[in-house]
Amino acid sequence: MARLYKYPVSRPRRLRRISLIRDLVSQTRISTEGLIQPIFVYEGLSSPRIPIESMPDQYRYSVDGAVSFVGELLDAGIRAALVFGVPSDKDPMGKKAYSSDGPAQMAVRSIKKEYGDSVVVATDVCLCSYTDHGHCGVVIKGGGGYVVDNDETIKLLGRIAVSHAEAGADIVAPSAMMDGQVGAIRDALDSEGYSDVAIMSYSAKYASSLYGPFRVAASSKPLFGDRRGYQMDPRNLWEAVKEVEMDLAEGADIVMVKPGLWYLDVVRTIKESFPEVPLAVYSVSGEYLMIKAAASSGYLSEDEAILESLIAMRRAGADIIITYSALKASKILSRVSRR
Ligand code: PBG
Ligand code: ZN
Repeated sequence: MARLYKYPVSRPRRLRRISLIRDLVSQTRISTEGLIQPIFVYEGLSSPRIPIESMPDQYRYSVDGAVSFVGELLDAGIRAALVFGVPSDKDPMGKKAYSSDGPAQMAVRSIKKEYGDSVVVATDVCLCSYTDHGHCGVVIKGGGGYVVDNDETIKLLGRIAVSHAEAGADIVAPSAMMDGQVGAIRDALDSEGYSDVAIMSYSAKYASSLYGPFRVAASSKPLFGDRRGYQMDPRNLWEAVKEVEMDLAEGADIVMVKPGLWYLDVVRTIKESFPEVPLAVYSVSGEYLMIKAAASSGYLSEDEAILESLIAMRRAGADIIITYSALKASKILSRVSRR
């Protein structure tokens, strides 16, 4: 159909005249129920929380500290958290990752005990914070150096997921980018009686420079090499469709694109290819730091930048946004709606 929009009959500025009209016709709306706040839980922390040097206004929490932080989130209308555990001792096989008294398991148990189903608890399922070499799986000799063994790793990921489910996790979120990880986790959960625990898969996770600040927070920097042997190549778009399709075939309930802002073409492509599947976008630590650092110069508004970046991800097709700014965003949003 030919569209006959033409000045002066058409004047788009009519709908931009006052803020209530702009709100009325706005296509993209942000609300707190689609936001997930990551939480870092440290084993053996002596105070409830200590600042993370690479991520201004973010903290490492003890188990008790995490419980009270979730209380603060709930009061602000943020109803979902993604728990990362960081152990005090590491080993080549990342044993604390699948131990019932690991930091993630302890935190999940306490959070669910305190708040029950008023909070959705998701857990990151990976090994990199738990292994002494910092890789996302079991490292073996091969190819003239060291490689991460896919098929041994996915067995451990299954055990991690079961231990999180046992602790009460509602959703497990595998982030190791091993082939077959979703299927291995689904099998493990189902055979242990956790068929109702959902999987949010980091399906299209790119090998990104933007994870730097996180690796300080989670103490998960690889001791040697990098993650390009398992995470996706930033040059590839269509491979994301393949990764998502494989994860769905293996039983993923929610799929994810990560990072967010530099990958909005991927977000849009996945949403258009699988419109029926809930899509999460992880706005990662480097994106968080970029806004924080830019705002600290005084030349841009942190609140406006946070809101605009959330809108951009929603507009691209995200149903769920995982962001370190979730708590802050809830405060900005309640201020905006009262304006
Ligand atoms: C670990 C993991 C990473 C992130 C989430 N889970 C980092 C990595 O792959 O090194 C990144 C999150 C962020 O940067 O905020 N598998
Ligand atoms: Zn990892």
